[in-house]
Amino acid sequence: MEFLKSKMDVAGYDKLVSLGNAKLNEFVLETAQLCKPDSIYLCNGSKAEYDTIMQEMVDSGLATPLAKKENSFLFRSDPSDVARVEKRTYIACENEEDAGPTNNWIHPDELKSEMTKLYDGCMAGRTMYVIPYSMGPIGSPIAKIGVEITDSGYVTCNMHIMTRVGDKVLDILGSDGEFIPCLHSVGKPLAEGESDNGIWPCASMDDKYISHFTDEAKIWSYGSGYGGNALLGKKCLALRIASVMAKKEGWMAEHMLILRLTNPEGRQYHVAAAFPSACGKTNLAMLQSKVEGWKVECIGDDIAWMKIGDDGKLYAINPEAGFFGVAPGTNNATNPMAMASCSKNSIFTNCLLTDDGDVWWEDGDGPCEHGIDWKGNEWTPASGEKGAHPNARFTAPAAQCPSICPDWENPAGVPIDLFIFGGRRTSVVPLVTQALDWDHGVYMGATAASEPTAAALDVKAQLRRDPFAMLPFCAYNMGDYWLSLIHN
Ligand code: OXD
Ligand code: MN
Repeated sequence: MEFLKSKMDVAGYDKLVSLGNAKLNEFVLETAQLCKPDSIYLCNGSKAEYDTIMQEMVDSGLATPLAKKENSFLFRSDPSDVARVEKRTYIACENEEDAGPTNNWIHPDELKSEMTKLYDGCMAGRTMYVIPYSMGPIGSPIAKIGVEITDSGYVTCNMHIMTRVGDKVLDILGSDGEFIPCLHSVGKPLAEGESDNGIWPCASMDDKYISHFTDEAKIWSYGSGYGGNALLGKKCLALRIASVMAKKEGWMAEHMLILRLTNPEGRQYHVAAAFPSACGKTNLAMLQSKVEGWKVECIGDDIAWMKIGDDGKLYAINPEAGFFGVAPGTNNATNPMAMASCSKNSIFTNCLLTDDGDVWWEDGDGPCEHGIDWKGNEWTPASGEKGAHPNARFTAPAAQCPSICPDWENPAGVPIDLFIFGGRRTSVVPLVTQALDWDHGVYMGATAASEPTAAALDVKAQLRRDPFAMLPFCAYNMGDYWLSLIHN
């Protein structure tokens, strides 16, 4: 570490040294030596830190402050970097069979050697942010700690909203705590004196990699700055790496919303529901009851970690701290709770900028006559193009959701009574079907299908089977997943 300090400015150096976590220091040192950033910054999780990093992005033209939404900002990404890319998402483990037929398998040695070449010098001209974060309430026995190293301020600010970041996580980590190392670079080194100058940094499609080393529980992502490709706590850690850990340790990491239903007598029911990306989990999670006396509260809108408790019931927690929701289609009629959640302190990506300094998207609240579209061009309804990208997103703190459940951060979780498996289907299947028993339910989840959405860039099929909405997220053999669910 001392060697590093002699080479560059390391903000947080004393904290790293006094913590004395050898694995963390080695991760920072090795990454800095390989990626060669200009400086290093250890995140403490404060509001001042968020504000400073955001201001730097405003100054470099990447972020636009929104006059109409308090402390909120708009980003426009590159047209090649607007969604998850499943063809560039890899599961690297020693035995191909462990990844199973549904994953892109590659041998870890081959992937590491390809990616190491790309990482060499990739952070030139940039700050290397070190983000200690917790998935799940800090200190909860179910929570997991990750450390994401990234050269993206956008990722750092999003991680502040989507996870619990900073000193409080380091305090739990201590000198010998375990964490999942997550390395991310946008893959766009800067030449001497160069700045992003308003252009979203990323690498070409063939150089994008979202890689999971499942035997070692480690994540390497390169070339994309967008969503699930880059905010590594979400899809990469809380679903793919967690699915493998859960298999080993006897719990479950699922692509599910969690909600609480309370009946007029005060009895609570908890529902976990798996739908593929951009198929309505956020809307269902934030449902408002139209039935007299019933109440619906949101616990999570995307991921559920579930463990069997001492009483034999299955308890679920939401490992996230924010919502990374699809904007188009969200409005005060379809989801007033989501609209309230992103009314301030939020980040918007690939939405249209209105003339009065607000964001707009297709099927939002009312029409828009004129603005700047997600590609940065002047837009009117006559332009013949979408104003917002179909996968435009809002990143909003979960605590801002008016229907957030008082138990949403309860480290013990909530007992699940009911599972729903669904998808986007415009024909052929009945609207709702109830399973006859557990095994029939497993069959229905295993054979669920959905029409593709804009959440993944490269899924073009008319209809695809998406077992348990986990096809892009189960990082081990899908056959083992099914077997583990069947009663025996
Ligand atoms: C998401 C996704 O961003 O599933 O939640 O793609
Ligand atoms: Mn999702």
